[in-house]
Amino acid sequence: MSKRFYITTAIDYVNGQPHLGHAYEKVVADVIARAHRSLGEEVFFLTGLDEHGQKVQQAAQAEGKDPQAYCDELAAVWQEFVARLNVSNDDFIRTTQPRHKQVVQAMLAKLHRIGELYKAPYRGLYSPRQETFLTEKDRRPDGTFDPIYGEVFELIEDNWYFRMSRYQSWLIEHIETHPSFVQPDNRRNEVLGFLRAETLDDLCITRPKARLSWGIPLPFDPDYVTYVWFDALSNYFSVPTALGDPAGTEPLAGDYELPAAASAPPLLWPADVHLIGKDILKFHAVYWPIMLKACGIALPRQVLVHGWWQKDGAKMSKSTGNVVDPIAVTGDWGVDAFRYYVVRELDIGPDANWTDAGFQARYHAELANGLGNLVNRSLSMLRRYRGGAVPARSDELAPDAQSVAADAADAWRRHNLQRALIRTWDLVTRANQFVDQTAPFKLAKDPAQSQRLDTVLYNLAEVCRVLAVLLWPFLPDAAARLYSQLGLSQAPDRIADAAWGGLPRGHRIGEPTPLFPRRDVQGPPR
Ligand code: ME8
Ligand code: MG
Repeated sequence: MSKRFYITTAIDYVNGQPHLGHAYEKVVADVIARAHRSLGEEVFFLTGLDEHGQKVQQAAQAEGKDPQAYCDELAAVWQEFVARLNVSNDDFIRTTQPRHKQVVQAMLAKLHRIGELYKAPYRGLYSPRQETFLTEKDRRPDGTFDPIYGEVFELIEDNWYFRMSRYQSWLIEHIETHPSFVQPDNRRNEVLGFLRAETLDDLCITRPKARLSWGIPLPFDPDYVTYVWFDALSNYFSVPTALGDPAGTEPLAGDYELPAAASAPPLLWPADVHLIGKDILKFHAVYWPIMLKACGIALPRQVLVHGWWQKDGAKMSKSTGNVVDPIAVTGDWGVDAFRYYVVRELDIGPDANWTDAGFQARYHAELANGLGNLVNRSLSMLRRYRGGAVPARSDELAPDAQSVAADAADAWRRHNLQRALIRTWDLVTRANQFVDQTAPFKLAKDPAQSQRLDTVLYNLAEVCRVLAVLLWPFLPDAAARLYSQLGLSQAPDRIADAAWGGLPRGHRIGEPTPLFPRRDVQGPPR
């Protein structure tokens, strides 16, 4: 058995509502996962929830609920959200699952045994009302703290520290010698700039149980629970290890009891891609590799950092009502329209701005009038003029289709998703021009042009088939519907099937129905 391509998303805080940023990250990861499957690789795609910590404990308390019951209720909402986006994750991690807790405890036990942890007093500004530590940076310009914090005073308490600082020069060298470890390059430079300019402190990785009970207890000091980031980052590794991946179990052998492994565990670790947003770069590109290195565990191959969405040029915020509800958009316009817009609009890296007008413009120009129109007229003409039977093969558009397919697959491999869509739409545009240039509705009126009409109809139907294959990672539902309208029963989920000439002569296509109906621009359709 060979190692699978293993991709993860950040795990979302369970106590927030799913929003556009979460939806975007999941869709991007899903496109990458599906692209690798289409390229013939075995894939493991993990997403999930970050359920421990102060905020969750407080939110549960405020609702008079037990924290686990509170998380269980919200986890159902989040899992439904992921399903609605047509995300093909192979597993869903919740950090309150026993399998996760066991692996985190094993990591902590090992770090403790080999001397990477020590106990020392932690001194900080503490707000009892918010039950949180503050820093000098939290002071307002006049030196006071926001009244929401109530009285703030200095607190000293013992905590456990992780000897992170000793790994600073090692990490700089690792990032320098592994250019793909943090991508895109501007994010890599950001991390290197930070590491070269500042001295890393050791990391405080615990909270006293007396103050925060909603966390994973230290196996060697049960008066403490782990700091939520140590817990959360470990999810990427705890799942493979709990499934029995030797790359996870071997480095931890003997340190703690691990979950019972499956008989033929999948080979997952190291992760190939950790997809995250820009705000959590330091945790993933500094803390996480050092945690793994100290534990003697292989490092992930890449931290891939995406930008942030705004709406109408401003930060999205519940309190001002400036939000995009991804579920409402998928309800109004279809899940594929949402997936298409976010991936086509925003390349992995920069920030973007959602506007409803921009969304609707792309929907109409690119999905309804571009792709939808091509498919609808190609298949309708084939039915009208040839009773839905595919004519003999012709290769007139084969060079265009093959060059687009090769470029798209190349862009998939490089996770250049926006580029892949742009190239794919070159084929949509080319085929629409072909209809306009060859004017099949005129050819149909002239019996002497019957052979030419056959050629045109074959090329159009075959382009539609190739497009379904190229669209599948992005628009899995539309791609499947297109294949079914072509009368094909399998799924368009193998890039190998983008090779020209797949439609055999005499094959009967099905019923064409609009993939992306045109809609009233004023508002959501019906
Ligand atoms: O940070 N645009 O969870 P989270 C794009 N639990 N992406 C956005 C975004 C926006 N406007 N807002 C948030 C956490 N995100 C931790 C992660 S991982 C071990 C623990 C992205 O729910 C954000 O950048 O606040 C992050 O990658 C993800 O959504 C989850 O954010
Ligand atoms: Mg956040």
